[in-house]
Amino acid sequence: TDLSHIRNFSIVAHIDHGKSTLADRLIQDTNTVADRDMKAQLLDSMDIERERGITIKANTVRIEYKADDGEDYVLNLIDTPGHVDFAYEVSRSMRAVEGSLLVVDSTQGVEAQTLANVYQAIDADHEIVPVLNKIDLPASECDRVAEQIEDVIGIDATDAIQVSAKTGVGIHETLEAIVTKLPAPEGNRDAPLKAMLVDSWYDPYLGVVVLVRVIDGEMRVKDRVKFMSNGTIHQIDRLGVFRPDMENIDVLGPGEIGFITASIKQVRDTRVGDTITSEKKGAEEALDGFKPSQPVVFCGLFPVDSAQFEDLRDAIDKLALNDASFSFEMETSAALGFGFRCGFLGLLHLEVIRDRIEREYDIELITTAPSVIYHVYMRDGTKIDLHNPADMPDVTHVDHIEEPRIKATILVPDDYLGDVLKLCQERRGVQLDLTYAGSRAMTVYDLPLNEVVFDFYDRLKSVTKGYASFDYQLTGYQTDNLVKMSVLVNEEPVDALSMMVHRDRAEMRGRAMVEKLKDLIPRHMFKIPIQAAIGGKVIARETLSALRKDVTAKCYGGDATRKRKLLDKQKAGKKKMRQFGKVDIPQEAFISALKMD
Ligand code: GTP
Repeated sequence: TDLSHIRNFSIVAHIDHGKSTLADRLIQDTNTVADRDMKAQLLDSMDIERERGITIKANTVRIEYKADDGEDYVLNLIDTPGHVDFAYEVSRSMRAVEGSLLVVDSTQGVEAQTLANVYQAIDADHEIVPVLNKIDLPASECDRVAEQIEDVIGIDATDAIQVSAKTGVGIHETLEAIVTKLPAPEGNRDAPLKAMLVDSWYDPYLGVVVLVRVIDGEMRVKDRVKFMSNGTIHQIDRLGVFRPDMENIDVLGPGEIGFITASIKQVRDTRVGDTITSEKKGAEEALDGFKPSQPVVFCGLFPVDSAQFEDLRDAIDKLALNDASFSFEMETSAALGFGFRCGFLGLLHLEVIRDRIEREYDIELITTAPSVIYHVYMRDGTKIDLHNPADMPDVTHVDHIEEPRIKATILVPDDYLGDVLKLCQERRGVQLDLTYAGSRAMTVYDLPLNEVVFDFYDRLKSVTKGYASFDYQLTGYQTDNLVKMSVLVNEEPVDALSMMVHRDRAEMRGRAMVEKLKDLIPRHMFKIPIQAAIGGKVIARETLSALRKDVTAKCYGGDATRKRKLLDKQKAGKKKMRQFGKVDIPQEAFISALKMD
């Protein structure tokens, strides 16, 4: 296809504003898929995504459209992941296209993720077409929302298209706007090959599939290509486009988006953002801005049933094949036995992986406190990247510790602003900005990431009854007064519960932790001291009193079946416990104890 008849675009939106529904409509109305094959939310391929309504892997589809000007156009839609955890993937897919549809739910208005994503689109020099969705709903307020787009984002919304992705109103106008308002790609067919590696994933039949955007030159089957970041050479086995099923074609030229397979063994061998060129007479310089995504949140995953360790290893190996941004290494915990220390792009990423292991592989997990990476500067001048509080060196050798900070953007209705500010303040936040758009406030905070990884998001949702939206980006490291807090149950340290905290908040956190544990740990036949400590110094303590827990006592020795039932029940309850020294700690304790109220 010649460049003037190609349009490449993505859709940016806040979660639930209708991105997938709109994409489905565009596909359907252009007869890209026969109606009978159309299933809702075609672009969200994984079950878990559909369930959570979150698009995780970037997906793409090639749409053929005969425009009102009588010409045939190829429209390539790259579906970007919607959540900040995948910000790097978003930014790569943005660089692969020239324009964006900015979808805003006209019953809701601009939200935090709308902002985060639209700024990425603006960064990538996109032409942006605002789309007001859900106009079929009585609560739709197009004028108000258009004005808000102008006020908050600062782009012209006078020509915003009014759409109902549900009924199909405005879909034709949207297709026309893509053709008339978005620029055609630029590129040179005769120049050496330069293609961007936009995404890659593992397909059980084809092996690793690589999504590419050709900038200059051409790609053909059997070509030998080089991945510039690591110099590896691959021969293209298969090349094609998504309609949205894979369809082989002979050549991909400049401005085009498609896939290749090249007998690549694992997703790890492909780096999102890498430049692909020809083995011979290739490009001299790679496309700029390549940086692999780095895990920022770490936690331990341990099987509840230690016999499932090998199953867990197998599950993690398989998931990692398909997710280059997920890292892991084996970990042993005195308390939890064998497991894995895993790194994630953010909390959502952590949750998705944990859910998949529990559901798809049927392994019950204990998740330890999420931790960020601390920079620990030692007195001898060395520096340690601390991923696990359990590895914290002896403080007498430590000079100072730095922690990562984020810039968080929160949008919230006026009424709840006070609670949000209080929450941010409690979490050591520094306010950077506070502005209003209609009855909504937007506040920007500088916050320590470690205060956010525990339960910030849950708390935010609960104090605002679900009305707040939140997005963040990492900004850098800053020195602060951080200490390791350990928890001892019956005098034994439970390494899985140790955490890094700010010194000023240590007592408060320690007290909350021991009080929670006192409720969560069942009584035993002996007294159990529960303590929080910094170094050798106990900062909070509770004692769980002794109890003889004989569940059969009240059965008067009479009914044998009833007795057996009760014993069985008690045994089943036991299964979810872990033994620490002589004490059984139930699994929920690990998760609940870390939440703050
Ligand atoms: P993520 O994939 O989670 O980012 O969400 P999304 O932005 O893709 O939203 P999705 O398309 O899943 O739509 C969210 C909800 O809004 C779904 O229940 C849709 O059925 C509904 N919806 C989408 N468009 C419209 C519309 O035009 N009118 C109405 N009434 N509902 C809509």
